[in-house]
Amino acid sequence: VLIVRRRMRNSCRWARAEAILKELEEKCATPIGKLRQVADAMTMEMHAGLASEGGSKLKMLITYVDNLPTGDEKGLFYALDLGGTNFRVIRVQLGGKELGVIKQEAEEVSIPPHLMIGSSNELFDFIAAEVARFISSESEEFQLPTGRQRELGFTFSFPVRQTSLSSGTLIKWTKGFSIDETVGEDVVSELTKAIDRQGLDLRVAALVNDTVGTLAGGRFYDKDVVAAVILGTGTNAAYVERVHAIPKWHGLFPNSGEMVINMEWGNFRSSHLPLTDYDDSLDAESLNPGEQIFEKLVSGMYLGEILRRVLLKLAEEAFLFGDTVPPKLRIPFILRTPHMSSMHEDTSSDLHVVASKFKDVLGITGTALKTRKMVVDLCNIISSRAARLSAAGIAGILKKQGREFTLERQRTVIALDGGLFEHYTLFRKSLESTLAEILGNEVAPFVVVIHANDGSGLGAALIAASNSQYSELEVS
Ligand code: GLC
Repeated sequence: VLIVRRRMRNSCRWARAEAILKELEEKCATPIGKLRQVADAMTMEMHAGLASEGGSKLKMLITYVDNLPTGDEKGLFYALDLGGTNFRVIRVQLGGKELGVIKQEAEEVSIPPHLMIGSSNELFDFIAAEVARFISSESEEFQLPTGRQRELGFTFSFPVRQTSLSSGTLIKWTKGFSIDETVGEDVVSELTKAIDRQGLDLRVAALVNDTVGTLAGGRFYDKDVVAAVILGTGTNAAYVERVHAIPKWHGLFPNSGEMVINMEWGNFRSSHLPLTDYDDSLDAESLNPGEQIFEKLVSGMYLGEILRRVLLKLAEEAFLFGDTVPPKLRIPFILRTPHMSSMHEDTSSDLHVVASKFKDVLGITGTALKTRKMVVDLCNIISSRAARLSAAGIAGILKKQGREFTLERQRTVIALDGGLFEHYTLFRKSLESTLAEILGNEVAPFVVVIHANDGSGLGAALIAASNSQYSELEVS
């Protein structure tokens, strides 16, 4: 009798688990019709954001970058890349058309988590100290001609209202950073003060978002690059817009007639987005409730956390991992997107990667094979939704640029970067196939997605070069 009862109980539990999975699958569904609606909504919001300040959830920030690299840039420039869990310092020797990038060196340091929510001075002092260390260990071959000041492009990957190419105030933090006193401050002057405190002689010649840096870095290698997308800790896009199409721009009309726009698409929101209760509670309990809704569906900071929330529900309501809820499953952000991608991409017949992640990360042992299969299904649902929505966002940009038609048969290149795109192969494949699906057979062959590996650092250095205080872009 006991065995029969246990079997019945188990099958009830499994039925409940399957119902939870099915419900998630339905709520996260992104059929092509829905993706088209999302793409259209993105295009509409782009128009609204360009029309007036505050006209849309999409900030459509003016970057003051009205010229992208030509390849003529020459000299030694630095870049500093702050925006995710790591930051990087880069030096690059540019040799103009003939020589291209002669030499590039970079160092990456992870940002101690307490600095992300500490004080402004602490964060900028930490960064400036790393820059000082990087410069002091420089070899002879990187010496600048005497009398020439070092110049740096600052990639600061948060929403900034720029007041010039090399100044701008922080609108808000995203991606787990939260330092109230920096909001509203000019981040270049914060960095410059910290650089001065280090006694360094260094000028910040450009302030750029990572999407803008990636666009510039991508364009350096491929003249058909017209937009850049970051899919990493956060997500965002930048693209080249005609100045005529920016009603809110009241500045000078640049010779190029163009302006790079930092969309801040992470803050996109639309009734067409397939949001679930898991997304709502993730948002409500986040550092920035109500903000960055698209980012919370799509980016690397959140995908693992969405998965954890679903697993927790399965543990609480379907007792999927035994009679009690495994305590680690209650810890927010314990399950990271890299864990999720390796479970999703586990091709072994016994799904031992899933089993080992469960053991190592969540302290859960002895999962049945069918439970592990369910976990892989969950990873697939959550990551496909994210990848397909990103593709819809890209389609929205192409539409705004008038490149979704076949008429001109113009080659169009989108530069992508970020850990999610780079390391999560199934995500990347889903994004690429979905983009082709949305664009259709006629257009898809003309749209190319490239991986602009660490393009944002190079891009920032290139933009710094174009804004150098030394009129000629020559070192000597
Ligand atoms: C967040 C930031 C944005 C950045 C993106 C990718 O969305 O707000 O500025 O470009 O992350 O790093």
